[in-house]
Amino acid sequence: MHPDGFTVTNDLGELRRLVAAAREQGRKIGCVPTMGALHPGHMSLVEESKKRAGFHVLTIFVNPTQFAPTEDLAKYPRPIEKDLQMCRQAGVNVVYMPEITALYPEGYDTWVTVDVMSKVLEGEFRPTHFRGVTTIVLKLFNIVQPDVACFGAKDYQQQTIIRKMVRDLNVPVDVVVCPTIREPDGLAMSSRNVYLGETDRQTALCLSQALELARRRITVDGDSDIAAVQAAMRQRLDAQPGVQVDYAVIADADTLEILTAPRRKMVALIAARVGATRLIDNLVISG
Ligand code: PAF
Repeated sequence: MHPDGFTVTNDLGELRRLVAAAREQGRKIGCVPTMGALHPGHMSLVEESKKRAGFHVLTIFVNPTQFAPTEDLAKYPRPIEKDLQMCRQAGVNVVYMPEITALYPEGYDTWVTVDVMSKVLEGEFRPTHFRGVTTIVLKLFNIVQPDVACFGAKDYQQQTIIRKMVRDLNVPVDVVVCPTIREPDGLAMSSRNVYLGETDRQTALCLSQALELARRRITVDGDSDIAAVQAAMRQRLDAQPGVQVDYAVIADADTLEILTAPRRKMVALIAARVGATRLIDNLVISG
């Protein structure tokens, strides 16, 4: 079995053989877990993997356990041919696309939860979401056994929770978090942006604008009234027709504790529905 080239597989045995062959050649294994609908943000994760490893596995799995029954699992975008073409061009070695029944066979009943952090922010609105994320990510780590795994900072709470899981459970993987990739007008790239019509796409800019407003108030104007900055972010979003805010807060960048006074490292986090599309965005702010 030769690990070079480009392999697409749903077979765990084949994946393991390819990874083992690469390891035998002394290559480090990089992993980029995704749900597909790839965009330049995902490709920046592949680029990071290429800096840190010599063999790159990208997983595409629309993980049902992180969707609530009311959410968009069935209509989640699955442009598989385009995704595979992007992976081949980017120098991914293996795309692993398991079947749902391979990862969650009949009677599946084991879950991984990072307790406290999974209940706040996104967790308030999507109570079972992070249990699904941490469970599938640990399963993928066990399957691929990567040295390095790359995640985007766009999903700030997700990457914080994954890093905590890895620490708490002594998982032997180096988790690397890569910066959010934005469109030239500031919109954070997301697989869900394809749902935005032209008007909603324009409206959605209020998220990055509200985050930028918070950053300016704290780092340029020196405003230390974090509750007031939060209120200003909220006001900016509420003023935008077609936007329904779930939260717009400033939290401790490590613990995700919601703040009223400045800390050394903070993160402004927003979740809002723009038309029918729920978007999240964030910006790290140094106090
Ligand atoms: O960020 C995502 O695309 C997913 O939550 C992940 C990490 C691939 C787990 O399904």
